[in-house]
Amino acid sequence: MSKRETVTVPQEEIAKQREYIHLLKESGLGKIKRYSISTFGCQMNENDSERLAGMLCDMGYSEAQNESESDLIIYNTCCVRENAELKVYGHLGALKHLKRNNPELLIAVCGCMMQQQEVVDHIKKKYRHVDLIFGTHNLYKFPELLYNASVTNGMIVDIWESVGLVAEGMPIARKFGVKALVTAMYGCNNFCSYCIVPYVRGRERSRSVEDIVGEVTALAENGYKEVMLLGQNVNSYGLDLGGGLTFAKLLKEVNKVKGIERIRFMTSHPKDLSDELIEALMDLDKVCEHLHLPIQSGSTKVLQEMNRKYTKEQYLSLIDKIKSKNPDISLTTDIIVGFPGESDADFQDTLDVLEKVRFDSAFTFLYSKRTGTPAAKREEQVSEEVKKERFEKLLEVQNRISKEINDQLLGSELEVLVEGLSKNSMETYTGRTRTNKIVNFKGTGDMVGRLVRVRIDRIQTWSLEGVVIEQVPYYA
Ligand code: SAH
Ligand code: SF4
Ligand code: F3S
Repeated sequence: MSKRETVTVPQEEIAKQREYIHLLKESGLGKIKRYSISTFGCQMNENDSERLAGMLCDMGYSEAQNESESDLIIYNTCCVRENAELKVYGHLGALKHLKRNNPELLIAVCGCMMQQQEVVDHIKKKYRHVDLIFGTHNLYKFPELLYNASVTNGMIVDIWESVGLVAEGMPIARKFGVKALVTAMYGCNNFCSYCIVPYVRGRERSRSVEDIVGEVTALAENGYKEVMLLGQNVNSYGLDLGGGLTFAKLLKEVNKVKGIERIRFMTSHPKDLSDELIEALMDLDKVCEHLHLPIQSGSTKVLQEMNRKYTKEQYLSLIDKIKSKNPDISLTTDIIVGFPGESDADFQDTLDVLEKVRFDSAFTFLYSKRTGTPAAKREEQVSEEVKKERFEKLLEVQNRISKEINDQLLGSELEVLVEGLSKNSMETYTGRTRTNKIVNFKGTGDMVGRLVRVRIDRIQTWSLEGVVIEQVPYYA
């Protein structure tokens, strides 16, 4: 059975956007102007910001050191939790005086938050100094929108509903030189009852294998050593394209790209993590021994109410299967505390899962009510006080486990891909192991982008320290 629900933006449309880039550059509207982009939220947004930066670079813009010297300020927003939204409003408010001092300044807001009508209404009313609002589905139209905003007075708003589009062929300027984000698929079909993402990112749309492999090949040719394939649930990659395509098959193709040393991916939904993918994790040499597998809660009752479609026991047996095939795998997860109706016993189940699975690390979140999601309508919201108490307990347990797991690495020799200088240091370099652990060590500039072998001699909860014992020759 073959079906195709995903539509690629026609090349004439991409060509039109490229003309706008040219127009902005030639007219001088973009020339020698400086931009700053602040990105909130997940790696999807990071990757989208890299696309915006790519378009701006082609227009002749350069990146500013800070907002006050910028001619264009962009906020690429997130709405997964309330505090992400509050941060954006705080920043927007603070821009009022910049705009007053420099009426030429252009302010644009985009990203997930803008896909909510009430947010756009609020900005129109309270933040009239904003010049341009656009969403997640028309990001590729940014050159045209920016052109219009440059020649018009007043606010331009252009938000689209999800129409199943994927845009290829727009420029991109990456933030890092060693590892790169590569979107494999957009959107989400899962509708977990607490989550706003499917409403603001639309339905699942996969990029073609050729486009993804083409992008990864170009990255390898430009010296990149690691790629992170992105999707809200990579396990359903390819389903919309039909023809029996799966994520494991995509991994096999990416694994063939010469020059790429490491492949990572995020995120896998436990409900459809296939045996084929577990095998691929084990068999494909470049696919790193790390799996991020969000559990969200350890209580079967809560999981059902979250619409996660697996039980505590199913999750645990999945983990057993993964560990039996890949004993050295590092496991990480996401957990929400204080989902409506979560009882002490439910929370105990979550702690129990932590003890049983022993994740290398966990991202923990306080449940945040998102208007428009089914969970927001629930009456039994957990009090802030109880949420915080549980959150603290969760951190305490997980930090202990993370430290215990890391302690076992003392004295071991690990392969590290060197990413660059560690923050605020002139000689300490930083990189990651295949299991995604941060390692800091004394090094030299020529090591950046290379694999080195490091003997671990100090353990922290969040990172490791060691000494380089060998540079690993690579076989590109
Ligand atoms: N698609 C990914 C992650 C999406 S958002 C996945 O399914 O794993 C990242 C994390 O934010 C989620 O895993 C979840 O733990 C958290 N999250 C999402 N909505 C939330 C909410 N309303 N309150 C608190 N945390 C939330
Ligand atoms: Fe949100 Fe669930 Fe989709 Fe992840 S899988 S983005 S948590 S709805
Ligand atoms: Fe990511 Fe936030 Fe959007 S987590 S998909 S940027 S709502």
